[in-house]
Amino acid sequence: MLAAAADMLQTANRHPSPAGGITQRISRRRTECAADPAGYVSVQAQRLHDPIGRTSSMTVYNVGFLVGSISSTSINRRLSKALVKLAPQADLSLAEIPIAGLPFYSADHDASIPAEAAEFKRAIEAVDGVVLVTPEYNRSVPGVLKNALDTASRPWGQNSFAGKPSAVIGTSIGAIGTAVAQQHLRSILSFLASPELAQPEAYLHMTEGLITEDGDVTNDDTAAFLLSWLRAFHTHIAKTLSPVS
Ligand SMILES: Cc1cc2nc3c(=O)[nH]c(=O)nc-3n(C[C@H](O)[C@H](O)[C@H](O)COP(=O)(O)O)c2cc1C
Repeated sequence: MLAAAADMLQTANRHPSPAGGITQRISRRRTECAADPAGYVSVQAQRLHDPIGRTSSMTVYNVGFLVGSISSTSINRRLSKALVKLAPQADLSLAEIPIAGLPFYSADHDASIPAEAAEFKRAIEAVDGVVLVTPEYNRSVPGVLKNALDTASRPWGQNSFAGKPSAVIGTSIGAIGTAVAQQHLRSILSFLASPELAQPEAYLHMTEGLITEDGDVTNDDTAAFLLSWLRAFHTHIAKTLSPVS
C-alpha cells in the first residue's frame, strides 16, 4: 500500500512550479491578506535562509495539526511526532493545535463562544494548513475530533476551515490503517469547504516498533513515504493559496 501511495505521489509532484514562482505568488497573497480585514486566507509563510544567508526558493508554511486521540499511549500521537520531525525537510513547520480541552459543542455557544473554542478557532485561522492525524473508532472519526471540527465550523458563517488546505493521515493496529475513518473525515472537510490533499492517501498499519515513543520511524520506506506525503502537502498548500490566474 505504501508503494502504491508513493507512486501516486510521484505523479502529484511531476509538475513543480518554476523556481521562485511559488514564493512570488505567495508574497502577493500576503499583501492582499494584509489589506483584507476579514483575513479569509491567512498566509504566514516565511522564507528559508541557509547558514550563509542565501534565500531558498521554497516557502516554509506554518501548519497546525490535530490529533484525534486523547489516549496517553496513542499511536497516532507517535505518528504526529514523526511528522513533526520530518516536516522541516518538506519546508513545513508543524505545531499542535490541542483539542482535548475543548468543551462539547452546543448551539448555545454560538451567542457567546467559550474561550477555549474561540482560541481554537483563532489557531486554525492563523495557520497556512491543517493536518488531521486520526485513529479509526468503530469505522469512523473519534468523537473528540468530530467535536473539534464542529466547534471550528460554527457559529454559522464563521467556519474556520473555509478555504483552509487540509490533509488527513492516520494509523491503526488494524490492517486497513484508518481508511474508513479517513473517508468519513474527508466527507466532513469537504462540507467545511476545506481543500483536501487528495493524493497520496496515507493509511498506516502500525506494527510493533515502527515508530518509537519519540517519533523516530524505524523503517526507511515508511520514513520516505511520510516525507513524500508532507512534501505533497506543501505543494497542495502552495497551489491552494495561489491566486487564480
Ligand atoms: C472505541 C474503539 C474503537 C475502535 N475501532 C477501530 C476501528 O474501527 N478500526 C481499527 O482499525 N481500529 C479500531 N480500534 C483500534 C485502534 O486502532 C487502536 O485502539 C489504536 O491504538 C487507536 O489509536 P490511538 O492509539 O492513537 O488512540 C478501536 C479502538 C477503540 C478504543
